[in-house]
Amino acid sequence: MRIDIITVLPELMQSPFNASILHRAKEKGLVEVHFHNLRDYSIGNYKQVDDYQFGGGAGMVLMIEPIDKCISKLKAERDYDEIIYMTPDGDTLTQGISNEISLKENLIILCGHYKGVDQRVRDKFVTREISIGDYVLSGGELAAAVLCDSVIRLLPGVLNDETSALTDTFQDNLLAPPVYTRPSSYKGMDVPEILLSGDFPKIEKWREEKALERTEEKRPDLLK
Ligand code: ADE
Repeated sequence: MRIDIITVLPELMQSPFNASILHRAKEKGLVEVHFHNLRDYSIGNYKQVDDYQFGGGAGMVLMIEPIDKCISKLKAERDYDEIIYMTPDGDTLTQGISNEISLKENLIILCGHYKGVDQRVRDKFVTREISIGDYVLSGGELAAAVLCDSVIRLLPGVLNDETSALTDTFQDNLLAPPVYTRPSSYKGMDVPEILLSGDFPKIEKWREEKALERTEEKRPDLLK
């Protein structure tokens, strides 16, 4: 997979990609992530990328021309499956959306900033709009990092144990069951017997029951 991220703040985004699973995915050649600073496509001597909104009102808007220049350059080099715009009024990210995106080859992710981007960018270039939740961030950068993390960990070969993404919370619309590690007894708090029994079919059944119980208690909306 190749991900091209267009942003006015590349420095805000780079560190999550240089640690842990995302770093390993890059090292293994399973994903390529490229950052494009919108200012490199700015117009005029002032490296302008944003301007006041027509009709008045507080807040700057990212201009169409630098974004068009950047996207056009990328599209001339390869085909893209999706051009995703991170915005609080997009579709709320779910595991299902991440699963779907993880099957794509080439993605562009556009990060909004200030009041967002000129609507014509959304109308003409963007194929999908994603929000990471009903709250407003200062820009789309952290949201894009969240999206990339949730997608990249699903790429085959990224996680050591291939099955571990399949047992994540939200896969199958269930929360994950409780997990325990050593010691089996700590200050009078014991790990459920069944997990120490070695009876794997029974353990599997217990996990399924606990996953359902937990989902009923915490997120009954997932079961509807
Ligand atoms: N940009 C600002 N807030 C956001 C959010 N909640 N999700 C995605 N992009 C955003």
